[in-house]
Amino acid sequence: MTADARSKQAETTTHWQRFAVPYEFPVVFTEGVFDPGNPALRDALCRLEPRKRHRVVVFVDDSLSGHLGKIEEYAAHHRDVIELACPPIAMPGGEKVKSELHFVESAQQTLFDLHIDRHSFVVAVGGGALLDAIGLVAATTHRGVRHIRIPTTVLAQNDSGVGVKNGVNLRGVKNFVGTFAPPFAVLNDLRFILTLPERDKVAGMAEAVKVSLIRDAEFFGWIERHMDDLATFDPAAMAYMIRRCAELHMRQIGQGGDPFESGSARPLDYGHWSAHKLESLTRHHVRHGEAVAIGMALDARYSVLAGLLPPGEEERICALLEYLGFELWHPALAKAGPAGKWVILEGLDEFREHLGGELTITLLAGIGTGVEVHEMDTERVRQAMLWLKERAGA
Ligand SMILES: NC(=O)c1ccc[n+]([C@@H]2O[C@H](COP(=O)([O-])OP(=O)(O)OC[C@H]3O[C@@H](n4cnc5c(N)ncnc54)[C@H](O)[C@@H]3O)[C@@H](O)[C@H]2O)c1
Ligand SMILES: [Zn+2]
Repeated sequence: MTADARSKQAETTTHWQRFAVPYEFPVVFTEGVFDPGNPALRDALCRLEPRKRHRVVVFVDDSLSGHLGKIEEYAAHHRDVIELACPPIAMPGGEKVKSELHFVESAQQTLFDLHIDRHSFVVAVGGGALLDAIGLVAATTHRGVRHIRIPTTVLAQNDSGVGVKNGVNLRGVKNFVGTFAPPFAVLNDLRFILTLPERDKVAGMAEAVKVSLIRDAEFFGWIERHMDDLATFDPAAMAYMIRRCAELHMRQIGQGGDPFESGSARPLDYGHWSAHKLESLTRHHVRHGEAVAIGMALDARYSVLAGLLPPGEEERICALLEYLGFELWHPALAKAGPAGKWVILEGLDEFREHLGGELTITLLAGIGTGVEVHEMDTERVRQAMLWLKERAGA
């Protein structure tokens, strides 16, 4: 081929673009975050620009509407650095805010009307559901406005609020729309837990049991030894449980090598494949933590049936969960679809789809040791389910 012919031939060239962006954000444990003398929120807002007066919009879970005035007082006390762009806005808490997308749209409309820019702050005060919805709003408005989370439930303080994900539900599928977006800061205030209904105090403990089961046998032992204190919500025990659980989640995200879950594994989602399905099947009458407790019991029994976990350990896990206040059976688990197949099994397909095609489920090889498998035997799942049903006397 002549040089001329070669130069006429269409050329394909590849230029590799490569960069790495370090992320860091403070996760602060404090009490009385809106007490005027508490510097945590002020410090978080000022951490990059200490002398600026920061524009802030605050969205508050409506179960905490008693705090709206306190937030205004806090901002007034720190008016040298905080300008509330509008009075704090109450929004429905719970799965409603994640399931009806007009809430996301109206929050975005508010940010538009207020001319919120990328260096302004969107603060969310609430449970995991409100944080997920407002986190999505913050991450997508102007492609990312600074976002501070103030989690107010056990689950949001020990798990979801310290993570890097947000999302809302679409057509009954949990978290179908969402982004990975590390927050600007997280402020955990134990006092919020005091006003939480008992049901939610219990529900959030599921994530602590979960992370202990897959990562930290010593923490599982601690939970067992303190189950009386935890079952009665002793503040010191709750505080340690929340902090240790949050630390383990942070470690996984920061040091696990895949913070944005681009691989096929969701290592923190032990017990979650059936939990997400159970939540949708019951239209969220079963809370996330309650569903996770059932999902963990199911996968613990499955782990025994698969020869991974020594027999008897599943009973130890179930006994602890029950002692903490969880019920380990729900009739929706046995709901049959048109072809007679249990609908809950669709959870495996939805999990696979969410991951990117290859199924990865975390099971247990021992207490404190998660192990990944890529196949689930449906007959074994059925047996594990029947075992749970029988155990519950259902
Ligand atoms: N983004 C993530 O990584 C991640 C991880 C785990 C769970 N989640 C999501 O978190 C959600 C569950 O969060 P949750 O368990 O915090 O429940 P939730 O947000 O549904 O809140 C439960 C109830 O408690 C109320 N509430 C909140 N704080 C309160 C307080 N201090 N006092 C009294 N009432 C209060 C809420 O209004 C709601 O009615 C689910 O949607 C789940 O999918 C997200
Ligand atoms: Zn969870």
